[in-house]
Amino acid sequence: MSFPENFTPELVVESPGRINLIGEHTDYNLGYVLPTAIEKKITFKFKRNHTEKECNLYSLGYNTGFTLQLDKIARSNVEWENYILGVLNEILLRTDKLRGFDCTIESKLPMGSGLSSSAALECGLAFGLNELFDLGLSKMDIVQLSQKAEHTFVGTQCGIMDQFASVMSEKGHVILLDCKSLEHQQIPIHIAPYKMIMLNTKVSHNLASSEYNTRKRECEEGVAIIKKKYPEVMSLRDVTATMIQEFEETMDATLFKRCSFIVSENDRVLKTANALKANDLKLFGSLLYEAHEGISKLYEVSCPESDFLVDFSKQYNAVLGARQTGGGFGGCTLNIVHKDKVNAFVEEATKAYKEAFNIELEAFEVQPSAGTYIQN
Ligand code: GLA
Repeated sequence: MSFPENFTPELVVESPGRINLIGEHTDYNLGYVLPTAIEKKITFKFKRNHTEKECNLYSLGYNTGFTLQLDKIARSNVEWENYILGVLNEILLRTDKLRGFDCTIESKLPMGSGLSSSAALECGLAFGLNELFDLGLSKMDIVQLSQKAEHTFVGTQCGIMDQFASVMSEKGHVILLDCKSLEHQQIPIHIAPYKMIMLNTKVSHNLASSEYNTRKRECEEGVAIIKKKYPEVMSLRDVTATMIQEFEETMDATLFKRCSFIVSENDRVLKTANALKANDLKLFGSLLYEAHEGISKLYEVSCPESDFLVDFSKQYNAVLGARQTGGGFGGCTLNIVHKDKVNAFVEEATKAYKEAFNIELEAFEVQPSAGTYIQN
């Protein structure tokens, strides 16, 4: 399929990726997370095509597109199409106002790098269609239907963090989100003279076919065991550090590691939020290192490449902390680096990484940015 050359959009929407400062795999355990959108994003151009049901979508990055009929939505064998189909399916379950449209998609977000290009894709599409057809969906509806689309059409039983961050973020802030109540606080972030530097391992892991769903199941099994003694426990969010310790001898070792990580990670998110409010950057950095240790040794969602980069950063006084961010098994590490030493650090990390893995490291700075918006 080639896209009509005379395509003049009625609406342009920008949908950002996200980083998560801390609080990994806590969202589906109804705990806390601390993400923000970043300025790397996906651009959608939309136009109504005045048909009842025909939709044409074109990815400028993949240089390919597809046509679908709104009354014949079904899962596709092509992975990226399922993000689109899933969102359309969820919208159709909520409203009958959707009609035919044409859309081009252009991504500046590296796929599979732990920056949640999937949420950006889902939320940008839902946000744009809501505007184009006046569907009356709230921002929260867009977040929730996008998450649901990922469960049903993509097959990842993801939490709500990525979609929430992609839509709700505010420039210069991180979101302290309680994934149980969905209450959230926008926390201003001032880390000068430090910068947030991402190192992309270029190791990408497909969450849908990965261990992600297994981790979720392991946590549920842990909760079922804890519940026998503490019936009030509904999720790992309700478990304290003292409570989990009681299960060290009796719980299966793997389940115990998974559950202990989540309990301590929730605590680290709250400590990090306080450290940022108090401008205690040293504490912020050490919590990142602590979190990575848990990600690697207890939750076991890291990989040799991410571990290498985090360890490497520990030699530098100019780096306050680092950890792998996102779902895991690769993607990017987040590094808090003094502005005067960014170039030297990136240069040396690139050299060492190339020697160790023969992979060309990619480095870029990120800044807390606004969630999905209409471009004027
Ligand atoms: C992926 C999921 C999120 C979250 C993270 C891990 O990005 O989509 O819901 O679970 O992994 O923190």
